[in-house]
Amino acid sequence: MAIRVAVSGAGRMGQQVLAALCQAPDLEPVAVVAKSPRGDKWELPQGGSVPYSTEPLPLFQATRPHVVVDFSHAQFTPTVVEAALAVGARPVIGTSNLDPAWLERLKGECLRRRLGAIVAPNFAIGAVVMMYLARKAAPFFDVAEIVEMHHDAKVDAPSGTAIATAQAMAKAKGAPFRRPPTERETIPGTRGGEVEGITIHSLRLPGMVAHQEVIFGALGQTLTIRHDSISRESFIPGVLLAVRRVMEIGELVMGLEPILGLEGG
Ligand SMILES: NC(=O)c1ccc[n+]([C@@H]2O[C@H](COP(=O)([O-])OP(=O)(O)OC[C@H]3O[C@@H](n4cnc5c(N)ncnc54)[C@H](OP(=O)(O)O)[C@@H]3O)[C@@H](O)[C@H]2O)c1
Repeated sequence: MAIRVAVSGAGRMGQQVLAALCQAPDLEPVAVVAKSPRGDKWELPQGGSVPYSTEPLPLFQATRPHVVVDFSHAQFTPTVVEAALAVGARPVIGTSNLDPAWLERLKGECLRRRLGAIVAPNFAIGAVVMMYLARKAAPFFDVAEIVEMHHDAKVDAPSGTAIATAQAMAKAKGAPFRRPPTERETIPGTRGGEVEGITIHSLRLPGMVAHQEVIFGALGQTLTIRHDSISRESFIPGVLLAVRRVMEIGELVMGLEPILGLEGG
């Protein structure tokens, strides 16, 4: 039996997810929910249509999804997830900037209902492996910098992934990194920001999608770990993996690491 999937958010990511669902024989798109009214049907890229609504609860009651994939907006996600849980559907959430207090409540709610949920700040499997390798390397170095590069429309800097990478590296090392002091920063900001002694630089350029380098420095050597998302398709294998795995778990899982067996260290 195919896994019935509703998609929340009909923007760039939502549309990529829908196209991928249409091509996976074990997954079936059953509904689309987003903010703006657009009638009651969403045309699928491969032909046919599914019900569309701005009201998640009645939509999910009518279409009975097993999984709800959410790439929408932090203001919209809690309503969608509440509706998903109410019909016994499992959320797979990629939306950024979610309220930590709400995530804590979601954790309790999933346990209480014995329903799986996956919230991942980064669904690009290569980026998750890059962070894992950075954590593994961290104990062997005292100095590290991160260069994150994104498209010019990104609203925030540095990226959530860069901050999370720096925090995870310091945790794995058991101490902050040593930030070499710069006596005189002739142009303020040139040396970048700082998290746990790790300097972070943010580049914003048209032509880029999402890229990150973690550079460790030591006597006579550097180690660079780099990941490039060259299109939004890079997130899709991770999303499909999460859709399949969320059916097998009974709690909230944060990040793809546990799903990929990359926990610890
Ligand atoms: N975890 C990851 O790996 C990953 C990867 C890529 C993106 N993201 C995150 O996923 C989210 C969606 O990204 P995207 O590029 O698809 O965005 P987008 O193109 O702007 O699409 C956002 C969608 O959310 C809907 N939405 C619902 N409530 C909204 C509200 N209050 N304000 C604005 N939009 C609202 C919009 O509805 P309408 O179309 O009706 O306006 C739209 O369909 C963002 O938070 C992004 O940072 C995460």
